[in-house]
Amino acid sequence: MSLLTVGHRGLMGVEPENTLRSFRRAEREAVDVIELDLHLSKDGALVVMHDADVTRTTDGGGPVSDFTLDQLRALDAGQGERVPTFDEVVEATSLPLQAEIKDRDAAQVLARRIQELDLHQRVTVISFHDEALRETRRLLPQMPLVLVAGKSSPTAPDRARELGADMVSLELRWLTPEIVERAHSLGIRVISWTVNTPEDLQRVTELGLDGVVTDMPAIRRATEKLAAS
Ligand code: G3P
Ligand code: CA
Repeated sequence: MSLLTVGHRGLMGVEPENTLRSFRRAEREAVDVIELDLHLSKDGALVVMHDADVTRTTDGGGPVSDFTLDQLRALDAGQGERVPTFDEVVEATSLPLQAEIKDRDAAQVLARRIQELDLHQRVTVISFHDEALRETRRLLPQMPLVLVAGKSSPTAPDRARELGADMVSLELRWLTPEIVERAHSLGIRVISWTVNTPEDLQRVTELGLDGVVTDMPAIRRATEKLAAS
């Protein structure tokens, strides 16, 4: 059984999330795809951070949109790492990227960078926000899209079809065989977050999923063993 393995915010179980250190670790552990989260700084830079506020992941405090890029760069994002820009991740790594739009206003900026850097083959745009995916589809008609969902997972396959997404990334605890069956009947692949334990991986195989989003190198290695068995 071959599963797509996505490194969540790099490999955040073992490195500071959404930092170059985490993304490089994900490459060394040979995940298939690196996942990252995007916000806009006060001066419109596309910056890599999960929360809308810098408090949890840096030594600063306050909304990310109150910080200029220079001010964000002055923060410690863990182990001396800096908050990276999207461009820096593109340069520092070579794997495919799942770029998650957290701030809906980032959709246009991301689409522009994908065009300017010619990243159409390397980047997949992902989001919980239908309108962010709709805007991306309008700007980049060929771009692969992934709809992300948690509690709203039962409606995700049909929403994904309407949005032109060919994959859904769904929270494991809300997944049911019916949701997976509906997605597959529409030709939509299903990956799940976050898969961090052998029990999670067992559930993934029982559900017949197409991939996992993981924080842990051990899950990457376990998926290799599954593929070989
Ligand atoms: O890959 C999808 C997953 O990252 C969604 O959850 O909160 O980690 O962005 P979150
Ligand atoms: Ca994410």
